[in-house]
Amino acid sequence: MVWSLQTPSALTDSQFVQWSKLLEERTGIQLSAQQKTLLQSQVAMRMRELGCSDYNQYYQQVTDGLSGLMEWSILVDRLTVKETSFFRHRPSLEYVRRFIQNRINNRELQGSFDIWSVGCASGEEPYSLAMVANDCFELAALAPYYGVTAMDISNAALGQARTGVYATRKLEQLHPDEVARYFRRTDNGNFQVVEKLRDRVCFSHGNVTRIGSMPPVNMDVIFCQNLLVYFRRWLRRDILNAFAERLKPGGVLIIGLGESVDWEHPSLKRVVGTEVQAYIRDQRQE
Ligand SMILES: C[S@@+](CC[C@H](N)C(=O)[O-])C[C@H]1O[C@@H](n2cnc3c(N)ncnc32)[C@H](O)[C@@H]1O
Repeated sequence: MVWSLQTPSALTDSQFVQWSKLLEERTGIQLSAQQKTLLQSQVAMRMRELGCSDYNQYYQQVTDGLSGLMEWSILVDRLTVKETSFFRHRPSLEYVRRFIQNRINNRELQGSFDIWSVGCASGEEPYSLAMVANDCFELAALAPYYGVTAMDISNAALGQARTGVYATRKLEQLHPDEVARYFRRTDNGNFQVVEKLRDRVCFSHGNVTRIGSMPPVNMDVIFCQNLLVYFRRWLRRDILNAFAERLKPGGVLIIGLGESVDWEHPSLKRVVGTEVQAYIRDQRQE
């Protein structure tokens, strides 16, 4: 292999096709032709770190066996959009709050209350879900018998999420009482999510396009926002069908507004309203 300190040149159209195909096969993310510069800059940046100036050689390295998989796990972090924030879409989180409160009021809680945050990025979404659940359990003076499983394809994002440490500006969308109750200031001026919430959130690496090979789970809430939007329609549909299979009877699936316009499922009913895009699974046990 020829490694050098030269800056990689521009990606040719056929190299762009090759790289974007690899990205789509492995993550589901579909790039448009306009995103060529973005892909090129991220791949080239990683190649510069490795002292490699040839896209084809780097492609071989990334697709070569076990060592290729290790390199891919670094590259994929550079190629995915990880924009997120606490309470990014507050109406969806408030919907989860009402959903849990109804369960508590109707004495319908059975066993633990399980939430799945799919494409959790650096953790703001699953911690927001944990805050909402914790509020409900505390208000009802119940032991916090809930858990949030948070999954992402980026190991770097998961590493950051597990620390639960955020810069002050990341807390802007939170109400002051949420900050007061759920964060503590660190010695260097950042904020850390309090232990009682961190203990309820379990971060794990996973690829939503390989959901079929994951152990079956039964969730009360599946929350997946700002991820399906990167996928082709048929893939969104397949993933939504797989989510439907992983909901407990009466459970709810919440996606981002408009992330799927025409999907329906025989066991799920769309929640009426325009503020959230949610689907409730019927109560029948299958
Ligand atoms: C734009 S962020 C959305 C974060 C959060 N859900 C929100 O709405 O704020 C999308 C996240 O999905 C992750 N992701 C992309 N492809 C994925 C896949 N195939 N499986 C699991 N996570 C994936 C990315 O790493 C990124 O962290």
